Amino acid sequence: MTMRRPLIAGNWKMHKTAQETEEFIERFLPRMENEGEIEVLIIPPYTSLDRAGRLLEGTPLQLGAQDMHYEKEGAFTGAISAQMLKGCGCSYVLVGHSERRELFGDDDVIVSRKLNAALRAGLLPILCVGETLSEHDQVEEKITRQLTADLAGIDGSTLANITIAYEPIWAIGTGKTATPEVAQETISMIRHWIAAHYDEATARGIRILYGGSVKPANAASLLAQPDIDGALVGGASLVAESFAQIVDAARL
Ligand code: PGA
Repeated sequence: MTMRRPLIAGNWKMHKTAQETEEFIERFLPRMENEGEIEVLIIPPYTSLDRAGRLLEGTPLQLGAQDMHYEKEGAFTGAISAQMLKGCGCSYVLVGHSERRELFGDDDVIVSRKLNAALRAGLLPILCVGETLSEHDQVEEKITRQLTADLAGIDGSTLANITIAYEPIWAIGTGKTATPEVAQETISMIRHWIAAHYDEATARGIRILYGGSVKPANAASLLAQPDIDGALVGGASLVAESFAQIVDAARL
C-alpha cells in the first residue's frame, strides 16, 4: 500500500484566455465530485490565474503556475514572483519544465534557484526532469545529473514538499507516450536515486508523476504502475471532459 496521494495536473502552456479559463472551470468543477483521495490541479497561463483563483476558492480543484522568477521583487521586466502567484491563489508551481529549459534558457542553476524560492514562499514545486530522444540511451545519467544539480542543498524534510515529474522530451506533445513499463522503470530509478541520496522513507514518500502525451486512453495503464503517482498532462488537459476522464482513470 502506498501512502502517496495521486496528483493529476493539467499544464495548459500558452492556451486559453481568462474567459476561456472560466468556461473550462464551469464545465470541469461539476465533474470533481468524488475525487476522494486524488488531488487535481490546473496550471493555466499567468493571465488566467487571478480569475481562476477566485473561482476555485473553497473548491477541491487546486491552482498552479507554469513558471516563476526566483527574486521576490525588483527590476525584472516581464517576470512574476512566487509571492504574486500566492496572491492569485496558487498552491503549486512548475519548475524546470523542458520547454522552459529548451526554449527559455532555464539551466540547472536557474532551476535550483526557482525551486528554493518557491519553497521559501510556501509554494509546492513540481520539478520536471527528462531526456531528449538522442539522450534516451543515457536516460539514467541525464536524469541523475538534473536531480543532483536541481536538488543541491535541499534536505530530506524539504524534499517532502516537492513533487517530481518525469517527462521524456520525446513524448511531450508528440503523441508518443512512454510505455507504462518504460515510464515505470525510469520513475523507479528516480526513487532509488532518492533512497541512495536521502533515505528509504523519503524515497517512499515522494510523489513522482509521469508526463508526455497522457490521454484518457493510456492514463489508466500508466497510473497502474506501482511507482507512478500521477500525471502531468498537457494537450489532453485543455478539454474539460478529457481531463476529467484522466482523473477518473486515477480513481480506478
Ligand atoms: P503533453 O504535454 O501531454 O501535451 O505531451 C505534457 C507536458 O509538457 O507537461
